[in-house]
Amino acid sequence: MRALVWHGKEDIRCDTVTDPEIEHPRDAIVKVTSCAICGSDLHLFHNFIPAMLPGDIMGHEMMGEVVEVGSGVNGKLKKGERIVIPFTIICGECEQCKAGNFSVCETTNRKKYLADKVFGHSTAGLFGYTHLTGGYPGGQAEYVRVPYADATHIRVPDGLPDEEVLFLGDIFPTGWQAAMQCDIKPTDTVAVWGCGPVGQMSIRSAILLGAKQVVAIDRIPERLSMAEAGGAITIDFDEESVVERLNELTNGKGPEKCIDAIGLEAHVTPFQPDTILDRTKQMLMLENDRAHVLREMIYVCRPGGTISIPGVYSGFADKVPMGMLMNKGLTIRTGQTHVNRWTDDLLRRIEEGQIDPSFVITHTVGLEAGPEMYKVFRDKQDSCIKVVLKP
Ligand SMILES: NC(=O)c1ccc[n+]([C@@H]2O[C@H](COP(=O)([O-])OP(=O)(O)OC[C@H]3O[C@@H](n4cnc5c(N)ncnc54)[C@H](O)[C@@H]3O)[C@@H](O)[C@H]2O)c1
Ligand SMILES: [Zn+2]
Ligand SMILES: [Zn+2]
Repeated sequence: MRALVWHGKEDIRCDTVTDPEIEHPRDAIVKVTSCAICGSDLHLFHNFIPAMLPGDIMGHEMMGEVVEVGSGVNGKLKKGERIVIPFTIICGECEQCKAGNFSVCETTNRKKYLADKVFGHSTAGLFGYTHLTGGYPGGQAEYVRVPYADATHIRVPDGLPDEEVLFLGDIFPTGWQAAMQCDIKPTDTVAVWGCGPVGQMSIRSAILLGAKQVVAIDRIPERLSMAEAGGAITIDFDEESVVERLNELTNGKGPEKCIDAIGLEAHVTPFQPDTILDRTKQMLMLENDRAHVLREMIYVCRPGGTISIPGVYSGFADKVPMGMLMNKGLTIRTGQTHVNRWTDDLLRRIEEGQIDPSFVITHTVGLEAGPEMYKVFRDKQDSCIKVVLKP
């Protein structure tokens, strides 16, 4: 089959690879009908997250048709069924899965010994996301093997097109969880840093959850326009001071809730000297993560407020202001998304027409164009916001 394969830094190719097969009774094989490139894939493209190996298949946002099931799937999934695949592989049976903490499933990381060493305790297996999370082949491919398939799926009705349900596997529940972690009240201002696909889903989720106002921060005009169309007030951080503007919009008090939809690759600019320092330290391997956005959020957040972090961080970040965080009594909530905790509710909201997540798609191409689209998405060429691939 054809698949997008990681060969090294900024080197992803569309290769012919061996077709996946059932390896375990709980597996299923899915013929991928649609998959997407995620902001998290860019961190792998840039080789910022360790433990990728040449030959690894990329992709963790995908859906398709079940073409084969193992004997242990026990009727929970049948050939011909249409499913979205959550990026988190879940067993459905361990203590964490039972508590709804699916992204930290205790069972599915088949390289648990690595994650135990690096994280203290292992987290869930993820598709196409390094050997720290199991080294499972991803879904930017014609076919994907779904381990623990009896639990690891979201069944979707035939009536809805792929584009409306595909993002149930990652960015839609990610934006939703980011907003849910803020415990939004009708009096809250929610500020969202980053208007990429995750920021866009966070903005629309915060509005659906009844925030008083949502403020969106970025520098890319078409991303800011999309945020505005979703109901946000926008701040272009190239043009104005984020801190001053957020204080103006909140009677000098700061937003109660702050969402970091950027993660370890915050934009580097001489106007924010700490970003230059972070980039330098990153190149010298003195720190992994550029923490500019964390610093800005902790500084401007209203005392007693919440910092919600869906943005991915990989290791160690410097100069995170613990004194400010502690004295202001801020709450930090973060995590890889517990996808299946949210998807029944979100599918219902799609079916009811409350939201159509396909609004974020700007490019739909074949799998062969995938390697080029990594660059287009990374460089925001051609007004690119979200790429869907049709294998
Ligand atoms: N927690 C999860 O489970 C989960 C799931 C999916 C994605 N993510 C993460 O969410 C993050 C965003 O993903 P995405 O797909 O939207 O990526 P993206 O790269 O398309 O978007 C990031 C946006 O941040 C903007 N930005 C950069 N620096 C900024 C700054 N200082 N202030 C304001 N905006 C700034 C960029 O211009 C860009 O539009 C990534 O770190 C990704 O890994 C996490
Ligand atoms: Zn993702
Ligand atoms: Zn589990």
